[in-house]
Amino acid sequence: MAEDLCISNGSKEEKYRTLLPQIKCLIADENDLIANLANVAAALKETFGFFWVGFYLVKGEELVLAPFQGPVACTRIKKGRGVCGKAWERAETLVVPDVDAFPGHIACSSLSRSEIVVPLLRTGGEVWGVLDVDCESLNGFDDVDAYFLRELCSCL
Ligand code: SME
Repeated sequence: MAEDLCISNGSKEEKYRTLLPQIKCLIADENDLIANLANVAAALKETFGFFWVGFYLVKGEELVLAPFQGPVACTRIKKGRGVCGKAWERAETLVVPDVDAFPGHIACSSLSRSEIVVPLLRTGGEVWGVLDVDCESLNGFDDVDAYFLRELCSCL
């Protein structure tokens, strides 16, 4: 795999469509989870310029910060707390158009205005982590992001 990403100039959907096969290629020959999560976070940041993109991994009763790109973030989140903890508890993707309107949202940065969290699921449905992406604008994420980020997470 070449180290440079080829990023489409087209729509968000086109960007995802060209990025996904490159990510699959990037992680295909590497079995170290942290290395792969680090590259996925970097590829998403480089392609979309998200404010914050990264992973939290389930460790016991908490999510613990894992590879990410962006400003420093809170390191531990309990099940059911914040958007990440809720996505873990419900084992479902949460799209939050306005973080201030989400009860219990954890503000790692006051600049984050909207957010999407996608659970990482084992076969059988158990959550082993989450992908969290933050945007500096309201309504930063929609069904297109949910669809492609879920597809991406299913490869991990
Ligand atoms: N806002 C998240 C916390 C993680 S940061 O956004 C990186 C939440 O409410 O769970």
